[in-house]
Amino acid sequence: MKIIVTGGAGFIGGNFIHYMLNKYGDYKIVCLDKLTYAGNLSTLKDVLNDPRFAFVKADICDRKAVFELFGKERPDAVVNFAAESHVDRSITDPSLFLNTNILGTATLMDACRNFGVARFHQVSTDEVYGDLPTDRPDLMFTEKTPLSASSPYSASKASADLLVLAYYRTYGLPVTISRCSNNYGPYHFPEKLIPLMIVNALADKSLPVYGTGENIRDWLYVEDHCKAIDLILHKGRTGEIYNVGGHNEMKNIDIVKIILKKLGKPESLIKFVADRKGHDLRYAIDPTKISSELGWTPQTAFSEGIDKTVKWYLENREWWEEIISGEYIEYYKKMYGVKS
Ligand SMILES: NC(=O)c1ccc[n+]([C@@H]2O[C@H](COP(=O)([O-])OP(=O)(O)OC[C@H]3O[C@@H](n4cnc5c(N)ncnc54)[C@H](O)[C@@H]3O)[C@@H](O)[C@H]2O)c1
Repeated sequence: MKIIVTGGAGFIGGNFIHYMLNKYGDYKIVCLDKLTYAGNLSTLKDVLNDPRFAFVKADICDRKAVFELFGKERPDAVVNFAAESHVDRSITDPSLFLNTNILGTATLMDACRNFGVARFHQVSTDEVYGDLPTDRPDLMFTEKTPLSASSPYSASKASADLLVLAYYRTYGLPVTISRCSNNYGPYHFPEKLIPLMIVNALADKSLPVYGTGENIRDWLYVEDHCKAIDLILHKGRTGEIYNVGGHNEMKNIDIVKIILKKLGKPESLIKFVADRKGHDLRYAIDPTKISSELGWTPQTAFSEGIDKTVKWYLENREWWEEIISGEYIEYYKKMYGVKS
């Protein structure tokens, strides 16, 4: 099987490429990535010389480059991770999110139609459902929950999902969609909550926490997400959406305290900052469909996953130290209004 994986130099796509090449000895993977600030070739350095792997630097919005690549590679499947993925950045500049996340997805699907690709899988997010109240733990997102995006990021992902389903209905394109909760694990860019807290705590810098840190996310170890996508790709029904989540709801502030404790750092490093505009309160996924239809269940408990993640950041300093420079520093100051 030959798969084009877009956005594979990012966090989840990079983990997915490692997972698939380890699991399937005879698969070929071609990674298409624009290498934005969030894309890092060093994430793929272990596989760059693998004959089963190829990397192509291109923009999913570049129709000519995408069609040329599909014509040359003739993939059996496409898994689309490529996206602008950071909510805060979407609040500052929505247009980039609309281009990449919506028009880029359409371009990829047009190429799939043109070259008869047998499966297009769209990696979406639980954020398309909006948020849930914190005082109703019985409520969870199912695949039937209406779309109700809160940020330009989630609105762009919801728009892409609608397009994917429209391509299924209109053109019969064999598509699947996964909507996953928050991931954590290796190769996570240090602007996102868990790696940011680890990296700052290690440097004894303040840990910026939005509002009072009461917002709840449903955390899933990234390898469990990769396993879910692998299952959907091979056994999922086309035209279907699968929610992916680990029944692991936690408050942001509790995550931050766990990380500080693991690193032996004081809670006095926590610095509450002005809340994000339109900040979603709570996400919680009901994964019944993927569990009952495809037999997926998360394998990594949070206690184990966070241990592995902290250990990975301790052992792979060069990966994130390279990132924490230049543009990222300027961006960080702008978002959190703090120097350290
Ligand atoms: N991180 C999470 O917790 C999470 C949860 C659920 C769903 N998702 C979804 O999973 C996907 C991957 O998320 P992530 O956290 O790995 O993102 P990321 O920001 O770490 O990586 C995105 C990758 O896409 C590439 N990219 C961006 N624009 C591109 C373009 N125009 N053309 C080609 N490549 C481009 C970047 O260079 C980068 O390598 C996204 O679609 C996101 O919406 C993420």
